Amino acid sequence: MTGQISESKINEVREQTDIVELISQYVSLKRSGANHTGLCPFHAEKSPSFSVNSARQFFHCFGCGVGGDVFSFLMKIEGLAFPDAVRRLAKQVGVELEERSFSPEEELRERQRERLYRVNEVAAAYFHQLLMEDPLGEPARKYMKIRGYGRKAAGEYRVGFALDSWEGLKKHLEEQGLAADDARTLGLIRPGKQGRGDYDLFRGRLIFPVYDLSGRIVAFAGRVLDDGKPKYINSPESPIYHKGRVLFGLYQARQAMRQSGEVLLVEGYFDQLALYRAGFPQVVATCGTALTSDHARLLKRYVQRVVLLFDQDPAGKKATFKAMTVLQEEGVPASVIELPRGDDPDSFIQRYGADAFRDRLEKARSAMDLFIDDVLAEAGNGIEQKVRAAEQIVEQISGLSSELEQDLYLKDLAQRSDIDLEQLKQVKRKVTGRRQQQKNHYSAPLPEDYPLPEVPFAPLEGGDYSAPDRQVESKTAWSRSEETLLCLLLQNYVDREKVIAAGGLSLFNHPAAQDVAQTLLAYSTDSGFDLQSIIEKLDPDKASVLMALSGCDQGQFSENVDVIFTDCLKALQQEQNKRQREESLNRIRQFEQDKDTKNSNDLLKEFTNLK
Ligand code: CTP
Ligand code: MN
Repeated sequence: MTGQISESKINEVREQTDIVELISQYVSLKRSGANHTGLCPFHAEKSPSFSVNSARQFFHCFGCGVGGDVFSFLMKIEGLAFPDAVRRLAKQVGVELEERSFSPEEELRERQRERLYRVNEVAAAYFHQLLMEDPLGEPARKYMKIRGYGRKAAGEYRVGFALDSWEGLKKHLEEQGLAADDARTLGLIRPGKQGRGDYDLFRGRLIFPVYDLSGRIVAFAGRVLDDGKPKYINSPESPIYHKGRVLFGLYQARQAMRQSGEVLLVEGYFDQLALYRAGFPQVVATCGTALTSDHARLLKRYVQRVVLLFDQDPAGKKATFKAMTVLQEEGVPASVIELPRGDDPDSFIQRYGADAFRDRLEKARSAMDLFIDDVLAEAGNGIEQKVRAAEQIVEQISGLSSELEQDLYLKDLAQRSDIDLEQLKQVKRKVTGRRQQQKNHYSAPLPEDYPLPEVPFAPLEGGDYSAPDRQVESKTAWSRSEETLLCLLLQNYVDREKVIAAGGLSLFNHPAAQDVAQTLLAYSTDSGFDLQSIIEKLDPDKASVLMALSGCDQGQFSENVDVIFTDCLKALQQEQNKRQREESLNRIRQFEQDKDTKNSNDLLKEFTNLK
């Protein structure tokens, strides 16, 4: 079923679902007072900090801070989009969703997508049957055998074979009454030149289907059976396939990923197969493309760390460090398994076996560690080169989300490079200052007319400038007043203009609260904020925070919203003053350490004013 689900239906599903029953399917819960508690399924812990409130139909983890309602739970645990979570629960509790219909264009697009899935499905069945049953599939069966795979693996992945002919698939699709247009859109068949007919993209190749998170086939990859070139051909992008958002094997690997909290990221299709079968089912491959931030966000839904396993050559190294940077930007730690030169995970397993691999996995090094080694080694011993290298490394270190980690790596770098730690810190302050100026801190698009908040501290001229702490993602909770203000905004008790007039984003101290506020302000219209209509546009993390907020106790707003609003503003102002004083103090201390009296005097004045 397609279309939009009405708000009242969503509420109905939420009300009908018993959150304790739902969560019990994944977590073993014990009753304790009004709540149920258990071990959080979203982070590794030994004592239970995960709590489910059946009266309010909410869950919250005091360890990692996740929380929300039945939908956010299902979205997170199953990696579903909001509407799919609603549909799944609706089915379970027997609520009929008469979905609001699409606009004619949306309807057309949706129908096209459904047809494209169908064509892929028919194509996959055709390829698979050729591999499994057809006499003509013999060369492919032989090839699979050489690579060490029999019917079982072929069946699990639905591996297939494309005949070495120009029109095998094309004819088959015709016979099935499927439109050539759709097959062309998928790139499965291509229009011939000079008036000749269409021809198949995949010919004489072993075929891997690529699945999305619902198990639908979105693309194919085809490998030659010999040394022919190109070794692999991949489906082009299409309305149902964006290679930057799809990972090969994720559909099969996600349970294991969630359980182990880690994912092995490999480059090759056969690498994925090999590790999966060797007892490392938490493995995915990119489909012939570099890791994107969409990939990183996708992985983040399931795991806390990523283990990179790229080729052991200069190109592979480069890809490793690039992936590390992408992951770092999403706050996901990356480590690296090194294999003997010339091996990839598949060949390594064949040669040395699963235990040897497990050994390497246990010895995985942090990617940053490897990076430091690598850049220093490349630089050699010349002073000039060493300084360049150190700068490059500090730049990378500054991108780490944890200050503590940054400090540790700086110390490590100082030791390894023989450069004074204080010098490195100096460089880091410069880099951080520059970063902070360049970086647009806010991620969702802002309406044109949206006033950006003033930065509370502009970088001081002349002096070194380290970024104020408020810009750094912190794990502490946002304040009560921040939350109340967000609820007011979300539930349309105060309007956008009023919040903007009072200071907009600059009212909020906590980065996460700022982030939510920014979404709310960006998407509010004259008629207020419509949670339902925007929730599908947001990535699931954002959406689930909003969902959780939308359930905050509205009883408290029943009277005197104005008073509550003013109280919040006051409290926030106080929090902000306190913070600014602390920041000033820190910076005065820093300047004093650096013996920079001019700046520290200026700051002292500023500090006294603040008081
Ligand atoms: N790749 C691709 N197109 C190519 C070559 C490679 O999309 N022409 C992608 C594939 O995903 C491939 C990965 O890059 O699996 C790694 O390529 P490579 O190391 O050359 O191949 P292997 O994965 O080792 O392939 P195999 O083990 O099948 O020989
Ligand atoms: Mn290989």
